Amino acid sequence: MHNNPDQFSSKIGFVLAAAGSAVGIGNLVGFPVAAAKNGGGAFLLLYIFFVVAICLPLILAELSLGRATGQSPLGAFKQVSKNSKIWAFAGALSLITPFMIAVFYSVLTVWLLGYFLQVLSGRLDELATPVYFGGFITSPWIFAYLAAVIGMVVLVLKGGVRDGIEKAARLLMPMLFIMLIGLAVFVLTLPNAAAGLKFYFTPQLDRITWSVVNGALSQAFFSLSLGMGILITYGSYLRKQDNLVQSAKMLACTDTGVALVAGLMTLPAIFAIYPSTNPGELSDSSVGLIFSFFPNIFMAMVPKFGYLAASFVAATFFLLAFVAAITSLVSIIEVPVAALKAESKQTRNKALTVVITGVLLGAVFSALSFGQVKWLSEFAFYSGMNKSLFDVLVDVFYDTILPFNGLLICLLVVWQWKRHNMAAEMASGGATGWLERYTHAAIAFWIPAILATVFVVTVINKFFS
Ligand code: PHE
Repeated sequence: MHNNPDQFSSKIGFVLAAAGSAVGIGNLVGFPVAAAKNGGGAFLLLYIFFVVAICLPLILAELSLGRATGQSPLGAFKQVSKNSKIWAFAGALSLITPFMIAVFYSVLTVWLLGYFLQVLSGRLDELATPVYFGGFITSPWIFAYLAAVIGMVVLVLKGGVRDGIEKAARLLMPMLFIMLIGLAVFVLTLPNAAAGLKFYFTPQLDRITWSVVNGALSQAFFSLSLGMGILITYGSYLRKQDNLVQSAKMLACTDTGVALVAGLMTLPAIFAIYPSTNPGELSDSSVGLIFSFFPNIFMAMVPKFGYLAASFVAATFFLLAFVAAITSLVSIIEVPVAALKAESKQTRNKALTVVITGVLLGAVFSALSFGQVKWLSEFAFYSGMNKSLFDVLVDVFYDTILPFNGLLICLLVVWQWKRHNMAAEMASGGATGWLERYTHAAIAFWIPAILATVFVVTVINKFFS
């Protein structure tokens, strides 16, 4: 048991792997941009509130469910619901969700790799022009980058839990932390950084609207890799003696810490570069704008530091984001792989081949949905506009389904598994404390109530307005 390669080797091994999953594009790009758009400190407060009040208990619920059953989400749902049909549907959703998120996330990862390589080849100035992004994402090069990204994921996942996922995290996460701190320290020495800090830490409460609240919650779910089955799967790789409550706290702190530092790095940079910026003007920024926005931040360093130095900083940023994205991609693809392996009693490699082929196909389709192929680019029509396949995946799975999956977990724990079983699992690593008691109460009452409300309002706002 002690040397089981299908388990994490220690608590710290688990925390690094789970942080590898949690720290991703959401922290480095999504969080700072959302904070800049949505009232700085006000967004920050809301975000932290959701992490503590809603996400932490759900992290614990997912981890204990995974460890108690020793199964992937599908198996776990089936086992605790004693094979009920309705819950099999929820189990299926917990596999479809990571699969679909893996599809659009691999496209984002590909863009980051591409931008990193473009900066290395000296094209930072071109990246900063508004037209560049559109040309870049529709160029055939995308498919070469996609092959490289998928290749790296396969390389890690072939190694299994301890020699693949954990080993990669032990290597890549420290590298990521060093790059992040280096960049943040650099940005904070720029002139006018103080204005950014002030904006970041001043809550502008009048900016809080329903969509800001909803945005903060989806962001927290996505960032902590909740509702994707990842923590159930990783929970099943945890040793009984590891303390779940401590692990959950460490995970939430690392992930939130990285997001905060990323904000610390980005907001002062915005203010240093555009002293007269009103960050609210970013408010209709699409993914495309974000991609030209970062190169612009770096280009603004050129007069003072020179093109080479600016390119160096830019390359570090894109490499950092790329590394973060790869470790997240690994974790999300592991979910359907683990489930398929268990359900079909196949070898790991066979399951991996099937899942990777599916993700690759899906990613090719979404990568072609930016105008190249008409039916993919006009995949659906709602909220008064045509939506590409990529947009639909983001709207449906990121914005809508994640909190819904969180709701399903609460209901499963309360109605089927029963809370005393969850409590026993949480306590098996020797944990007791406020979080355990809070989780016990909150998961049965106000967390499901909030998640159900958010789900209904989001569906109405997104798809029927
Ligand atoms: N937590 C990741 C992030 O913040 C999101 C994610 C996790 C996406 C796992 C895919 C897979 O970017």
